[in-house]
Formats: sequence, C-alpha cells, structure tokens
Amino acid sequence: MLKLENVKGHPMIEDFINQSEKYLDAIKYTDHGRRHINIVSDRARSLAKSIGLSELVQEMCAISGYCHDMGNFMGRSEHHYWSAMLFSQIFLKDAKDTNQISTIMQAIASHDKNKLKLVNNVSAILILADKSDVHRTRVKNKDLNQIKNDIHDRVNYSAIANDFSVNKSKKQIKLKIQIDTKITSPMDYFEIFMERMAFCRIAAEFLGYEFILIINNFKLS
Ligand SMILES: [Fe+2]
Ligand SMILES: [Fe+2]
Repeated sequence: MLKLENVKGHPMIEDFINQSEKYLDAIKYTDHGRRHINIVSDRARSLAKSIGLSELVQEMCAISGYCHDMGNFMGRSEHHYWSAMLFSQIFLKDAKDTNQISTIMQAIASHDKNKLKLVNNVSAILILADKSDVHRTRVKNKDLNQIKNDIHDRVNYSAIANDFSVNKSKKQIKLKIQIDTKITSPMDYFEIFMERMAFCRIAAEFLGYEFILIINNFKLS
C-alpha cells in the first residue's frame, strides 16, 4: 500500500509543489502550497477516519490531499488534471495495486471539475477537505487596501475562524466559519463560495451525510 510517508518528501513531488508555490506567488494567488495541502491532507484523513472508512481509504485521502494542487505550475484552469497526471507518472509504473493509484488520480482530477460526478469516497472526501479551507492565513497579500479590491482575498481574509467537524451518529458534516464583517459581508462570501459549498453538499450526500454550513452563527443546511 502506498502511504503518505512515501509521497511526502519524494523529490519529484516536492519539486512540483515548490514550482506551484512559485507560480502562484507570481500571479498573487491565495495559498495552494504547503500550508493548504497539509491542512487538506490532514482534514481528509481525519474525515475518512471519523466516518469509519478503512485504513487504505484514509491513506488514499491523505495522499490525494497532499498532491491535489501540485500541478498548478502548469496552469490554474486545468490544474486538477495536471496534478493527477503528474502523480500517475511517478507512482503508476511501480504500483503493485494500480487501483489505489487510479482512485487517487480520479479524486485529484475531480476536485475542481465543472461537472462533478462522484463515484468513490476518496473524491468526495477530498472535495470536502479542499473546499472547506477558507481562512485568513490563505491570503498572501498583506496590503489591506489591495485585499479589499480582490473579492477572493477579501473573503479569505475575512474568515478569522474555521471549524470543520463530523458527527457520525447524527450523520452531519459541519463547517463553521467566522467572518469579520468589517472586511467583507456574508453576501461576498456567497458570491464566491456558492459553487464550492454546493460541491460540499453533493460530496457529503455521497457519503450519506448532511452538510451544514454555519456563518457567523447563522445556520444553512
Ligand atoms: Fe485545486
Ligand atoms: Fe486545493
């Protein structure tokens, strides 16, 4: 079984992540680098564990989370495909279990597709772990005037607390976000995150769970 420890620190993987961090820094994009991928990887593994999925699935979730954005250096718009293809080029040739590799590839490729069609738990978990990472620390730009002019930066910067939790007995996956309304309005948040939250809902439903979003103590489900 391929484990996260075989992936993390692999020179090719780390090179792709470095290249993507450099590229996204250059285009002043929000963090898709090590801060983000480690959060997504940890969140994906713990979500898989919390809902009682096998160790193999937990490991696939953690690996997908770590590698899902490493293709960004070849272009933002198709980065989900680039990331999946790069992953396969490293691990497919020596794989004893190609199904593990292809499942991870599919999860990575699905995380940013326009037409979402989920066929496995790993893809659903990656979407929830990725799309729920909304937080001030993702904003690289530290100039408040510039932040206020960019809706993505503004919304991320306004998110001062982010709590992601699972209640297995109630079958609920909950994302609680605290927004500083001096920086943005919940309306801005919805403008940007409507589609992402719809993805989370579809992903949660695929896992047999209800997705609940709470913004500034206002519950949406
Ligand atoms: Fe992505
Ligand atoms: Fe991501």
